[in-house]
Amino acid sequence: MIDVNGKLSNFIDSVYQTHLDNIKSIYSVRPKGRKPIMPLTNFVFEFFIFNSLYQIDWPSSCKINSIKYHDREDISEFNQIAKFLRFIRQNCPNENSFLKDFFEPLNYLNLEGRWTKIIEDDRIKIKHGESFFNNLNWLRSNLEGLQPTKTNFRKIELCLQFIVDVRNNIFHGTKTQEEAREKSQAKRIEIYDIYLKCINSLFFSIIDCQARRNTISTQKIQFPIDTYNIETKTILSLIHMRKIKIEDSRIIYFTNSISIKSNIGDTLFYPSAGYDIITPLLIAIEHINNFYFYNVSYEFRKLDIIKSYIGKILKIDVELDKHKRTISFIFKKIRKILYFCADDNKSFLEKDISLGFYFHRGDSSGEGGSNQKWDSELLSQLKKKVKIGKECFFISDGEPGGGMSEEISIKHEKKLYSDRNRKYYFGYLK
Ligand SMILES: C[S@@+](CC[C@H](N)C(=O)[O-])C[C@H]1O[C@@H](n2cnc3c(N)ncnc32)[C@H](O)[C@@H]1O
Repeated sequence: MIDVNGKLSNFIDSVYQTHLDNIKSIYSVRPKGRKPIMPLTNFVFEFFIFNSLYQIDWPSSCKINSIKYHDREDISEFNQIAKFLRFIRQNCPNENSFLKDFFEPLNYLNLEGRWTKIIEDDRIKIKHGESFFNNLNWLRSNLEGLQPTKTNFRKIELCLQFIVDVRNNIFHGTKTQEEAREKSQAKRIEIYDIYLKCINSLFFSIIDCQARRNTISTQKIQFPIDTYNIETKTILSLIHMRKIKIEDSRIIYFTNSISIKSNIGDTLFYPSAGYDIITPLLIAIEHINNFYFYNVSYEFRKLDIIKSYIGKILKIDVELDKHKRTISFIFKKIRKILYFCADDNKSFLEKDISLGFYFHRGDSSGEGGSNQKWDSELLSQLKKKVKIGKECFFISDGEPGGGMSEEISIKHEKKLYSDRNRKYYFGYLK
């Protein structure tokens, strides 16, 4: 890792902060009276960040501990990028999983389909778009143990060169804002944006800057959730509104990838749920009809907000019954009901239901939770709610069974970046 201080360090810290803010998408622009131009704004901002980094002669700057720019007359943009990548490559630590961590978001991207075909113009041809997506696919398939070799970095560079051409088209007006909003084009821009964020994140990781505090910014990069057609901008706004957590797009992706069995019971239970409704709903909606969210109290006004979010995300009509404190809607011809139980979690145990999904997080005493030990002491009572012949899937940030394997049949562990760097457990209660 490169040690920097003084002016250089201040510069890197402030660019890094801008990169972090852009990952959270605080720079979304909504022109007066018109639709927001996401993901274009995000892409353009991340490109500014990328540009402000690659135009610097890093080896010389580090030597003198001050910023030294490349001479733009002498060194072309592509050459500046090549030098920037060489600097990163030569300073990559020799760890097997190092590069893999920085391209982690590629694992969650859909990189195939008709939408990947670019609109040809004077500068960019269809074959350039194809080789961009081929290179990206190659990178993703070879992430495991990817070494910082010249050949591997050449692939990384080719992807960047293509993105530079796209950026030039946008800046020179070949692509209009209207075109950028077109669905396929917007999906592609989303991919370019994520790729740039990975590259910038990689650069910051090899520089020891104050603001970085050991976190890898790539782990916070959001991506669209393909199954529900939720765009990155919606995910970012849900995180911003605290309706979902930063790690949730990855939890949803991971759960989809291990595909939940079809013989689970029809009820979900989430003790101490608070207003953490959207993620368990999205994960379980195909399998579960009755959702029980428990919390000592529920404010009606907030349920109204949740109702409108569910409607917007799933693009369906949603009903809120103030009296019964339920939200309901029809999904794929089946009525789904969300019960908001303002009660002690334990009263759920009195219900005669067929438990099929147990979702649990953020419930320790330190967080203002119940500390009722649902994953250990109360687990045997919970298991009695699973009907014979049925199974119950779980997702918890506490280890069900406290590590006793007989309590669960399959267990996946996944450590996901969150405000607490939580480890999540996925599997079936036996
Ligand atoms: C830190 S919040 C977590 C909310 C949610 N699980 C999340 O991760 O966003 C903990 C919640 O547990 C609720 N709680 C604490 N003791 C409880 C109990 N005995 N029964 C039901 N809810 C309880 C609190 O009201 C609070 O809303």
